[in-house]
Amino acid sequence: MSPWRATARAHPNIALVKYWGKRDPVRILPHQSSLSVTLAPLEVVTTVEFGAPADSVVLHGTEARGKERVRVLALLERVRAGTTRALGPVRVDSRGNFPMAAGLASSAAGFAALALAGRAAAGLSTEPGAVSRLAREGSGSACRSVQGGMCIWHRGSREDGEDSVATQAFPEGHWPELRLLVAVLSRAEKEVGSRDGMAQAVETSPYYPAWVKDAEAEIPRAIAAIAARDLEVLGALSERNAWRMHATALAADPPLCYLLPGTLGLILALPAARRRGVPVWFTLDAGPNPVLLTLASHEAEVERLAREAGAVEVVRCRPGGDARLVEP
Ligand code: PMV
Repeated sequence: MSPWRATARAHPNIALVKYWGKRDPVRILPHQSSLSVTLAPLEVVTTVEFGAPADSVVLHGTEARGKERVRVLALLERVRAGTTRALGPVRVDSRGNFPMAAGLASSAAGFAALALAGRAAAGLSTEPGAVSRLAREGSGSACRSVQGGMCIWHRGSREDGEDSVATQAFPEGHWPELRLLVAVLSRAEKEVGSRDGMAQAVETSPYYPAWVKDAEAEIPRAIAAIAARDLEVLGALSERNAWRMHATALAADPPLCYLLPGTLGLILALPAARRRGVPVWFTLDAGPNPVLLTLASHEAEVERLAREAGAVEVVRCRPGGDARLVEP
């Protein structure tokens, strides 16, 4: 393997206490802490090679242009700034084993794999904190995909962002029965991405300060529920955190509505399923596709329920492991 080349794999993650709003949009520093589960078997594999003939960024088999290319090269610029070596132009090749349109942003896994491969290719430390800080500057939620299991992105208070980093709260094996099913109701790309949506909510939603205070207070409760492997408590917490994030977005001006009629159809069917004895709760990112929390023993039943409510695809996930370096 060339000393200036490395390949890394990383899983995406789903937040149960969500990040929604930046206090510093350049360094990507959040207003509040967030907590997520790393999702296997979904993953992105990224190779970074310095000393290439010219900069090239290939994402999912296609040469990237525009904003995506700029964001990838900007992250690698941060890597260059961390070393005195002349690294030269860079070649990046990144591909995922899941469709972007599955509603799960591949950016978290993509930037976590890019940060790990980029630092390794440049001969820099691949200690999780350093990789997480760098991944954060690509996409905030990516800092939570550097380690497996359940991770907390601590908001931090420093202006330079050094203390705004994700750490692992529970390893991947802590709760082997936990399942997370992505119910794909729509593959359409959302009109307002999370970057613009959260900026709009911070600036115009009168509920924004209450959102921050509430979400921060949910973190220790989520940790206690995960420690006790109490899905009922964690599920209820995940649902109310998702509702509150969406309420904050809906109260923005102009309003941001990420829900589709089918989203409500599915999530409003869950209380009746619970009354029938099915342990199922939802969380919902800035898009129409809920992620359903359940246990391995009820996975097939929950998939059926999602399909009956209109899901065109259901992706079964479980807690995944750390981002890691691999042979290409
Ligand atoms: O990291 P970004 O810019 O993709 O924002 C992620 C925002 C949410 O997915 C809605 C919440 C979260 O914490 O992942």
